[in-house]
Amino acid sequence: KYLQEDEIVPECKDLLSTLPKEKGWAEPHLYKYQGFWYPAWQFQGVLECQQHFQAQDTDILLVSAPKCGTTWLKALAFTIINRNSHSIDDPGKHPLFYNNPHDLVHQIELESHIDNPIFNPSSPRLFATHLPYISLPKCAKNSECKLVYICRNPKDTFISLWHFMNELRLNHLASISLEVAFDKFCRGVSIFGPFWDHVSDYWEESRKRPNKVLFLKYEDMKEDPNLHVKRLAEFFGVPFSIEEATSGVVDGIIKLCSFENLSKLKVNKDGKLPSGVENKTFFRRGGVGDWKNYLWPVMVERLDYLTEEKFQGSGLHL
Ligand code: A3P
Repeated sequence: KYLQEDEIVPECKDLLSTLPKEKGWAEPHLYKYQGFWYPAWQFQGVLECQQHFQAQDTDILLVSAPKCGTTWLKALAFTIINRNSHSIDDPGKHPLFYNNPHDLVHQIELESHIDNPIFNPSSPRLFATHLPYISLPKCAKNSECKLVYICRNPKDTFISLWHFMNELRLNHLASISLEVAFDKFCRGVSIFGPFWDHVSDYWEESRKRPNKVLFLKYEDMKEDPNLHVKRLAEFFGVPFSIEEATSGVVDGIIKLCSFENLSKLKVNKDGKLPSGVENKTFFRRGGVGDWKNYLWPVMVERLDYLTEEKFQGSGLHL
């Protein structure tokens, strides 16, 4: 279960009490630490991870702002890296058939100390994080470990986050209206937000160190999954052989990890994460452009303006 505010260790509570805070979306408050916003239950994990996570040069870290495609990237990366030990020839036996992707690839800010038992020890360790670049453990920045960052257009990200946060309220709190959530999102007050700062910092890093940070966009992956699965495999240092490429392995991975396949599996319909969050909340529509069904023109204008302003001159377009 996630920590309640009154369960947090005293040192962390003391620090929290010094931080700027604002009413949260699905949680009483969000706190601003190193320029980004966290709920109290998450904050202790962030500190623990900064202090205790030990990166290894061979580690792979999947990074995202929430709702940008983390679940999909976890499924793809796990399947690509472990394709020799967990063959996709019989998808019914694959770990993804029985495990939600979040159970296969852990967030370091939730469980920094846990090594995943399902891993083949000869494979690189695969972790994920929502931490902004500034708050990544130093060893992750300084070691040779590789980062894959996935981002998504802010309008779909916002709609996805709004739905998700309302699901997380676990029925005992009133839901947050689209308008209130929208204003908070635009002001940067969202979990691991400001969204634009999160994206910009990794974008800059990927330009400086392309061998260290691979920067991906959800929309591009949707448009050409084949190209991106190959890019991922190359970046991980396990490119597909000619034999694999011609025997349909890439297409098999794409199909196995697709929204259509994963969202209909029993584990993702009925299962829960150890935190109590239902697996089905990670699978909503899985498409591009759902914002058109929710945002008023004036909202679109505000978000587009913000995005243009924040990324101006960076070469990044979302
Ligand atoms: P929507 O709410 O727009 O449907 P995250 O994994 O970072 O929490 O992001 C969740 C978003 O990714 C949700 O978007 C979800 O439906 C979508 N998603 C989950 N699994 C996916 C998959 N295998 N392929 C594409 N999108 C997926």
